[in-house]
Amino acid sequence: MKGPKEAALRVSSQEKKKMGLKELLLRLKETPLFGKRPSETKAPALTGVEQLDLIDRSQLSIFFEKDPLVALYEVAMDRTQAPADSFFKRCRFFSLAELCEFALSKNEPGDIVECGCWRGHSAYMISTLASKYGFRGAFHIFDSFEGLSELSEEDRSQRFNLNTQEVAEQAKWFACPEDIVKANLSGFPFVKTYKGWVPDRFAEVADKRFSFVHIDLDLYKPIMDSIHFFYPRMVKGGIIVFDDYGSARFPGAKVAIDEAINKYSPTFFFRHPTGGAFLIV
Ligand SMILES: C[S@@+](CC[C@H](N)C(=O)[O-])C[C@H]1O[C@@H](n2cnc3c(N)ncnc32)[C@H](O)[C@@H]1O
Repeated sequence: MKGPKEAALRVSSQEKKKMGLKELLLRLKETPLFGKRPSETKAPALTGVEQLDLIDRSQLSIFFEKDPLVALYEVAMDRTQAPADSFFKRCRFFSLAELCEFALSKNEPGDIVECGCWRGHSAYMISTLASKYGFRGAFHIFDSFEGLSELSEEDRSQRFNLNTQEVAEQAKWFACPEDIVKANLSGFPFVKTYKGWVPDRFAEVADKRFSFVHIDLDLYKPIMDSIHFFYPRMVKGGIIVFDDYGSARFPGAKVAIDEAINKYSPTFFFRHPTGGAFLIV
């Protein structure tokens, strides 16, 4: 079963290993945006751009030649048994890892944060890079471990107009017990998990400074609360990465981030055309 968030490639991992990227992309092209779930039938037909007709494969050497960060994505997916995979998620997590490496190697020291870890896929990637760079701080991970919180008005998507039951299913899909995440990340002594609804436990790190923050909470209110808490505590040049910017399924993320950019005017803000965004303080 694939997650609602990703345009999942409906092929088994065994099949994937045998396939080249060409076949994977062709399969993606033939895959309706959100597969089999009931809500998907309501999605409008895909346009040419959505079907990736314009992809120039010669530009994808990072994926064909398996860049170390792409290899890290696959190792982390395997170690955390992350059940969602897509080309676009690979692009977002590649950028996440690239930015994390930059912060670890160039920024003044500060702690690392992730808000929204699910099974720990991105946290595993961040932790591996932190180990590589001899990170001496703490990596704080905040999650309900019970899935998504309540939707705000900003989170209502016209395109993915879910009914009450579908909203509940979506929320629960992202629930993963804290013990599993701790076990998945047990090789990294600097990891600390905080179970609770954002922002309830942020006060426990109020005296810290942060060099790298990954916000992957999907919804307007917790994303907004996270930015308001962490932005003023970032080191100069600190980086905040947003996974959900531009997602049609989670429109509240863009609303929250755009509002925050207006308020804080960071030095730099970048929207990835394939989803996700980041800012430099
Ligand atoms: C999309 S998943 C995160 C994916 C993860 N970064 C990965 O690498 O697979 C969203 C996460 O946010 C958490 N979450 C959503 N709303 C929350 C809230 N208000 N407070 C705490 N956690 C929340 C969910 O439990 C879930 O683990």
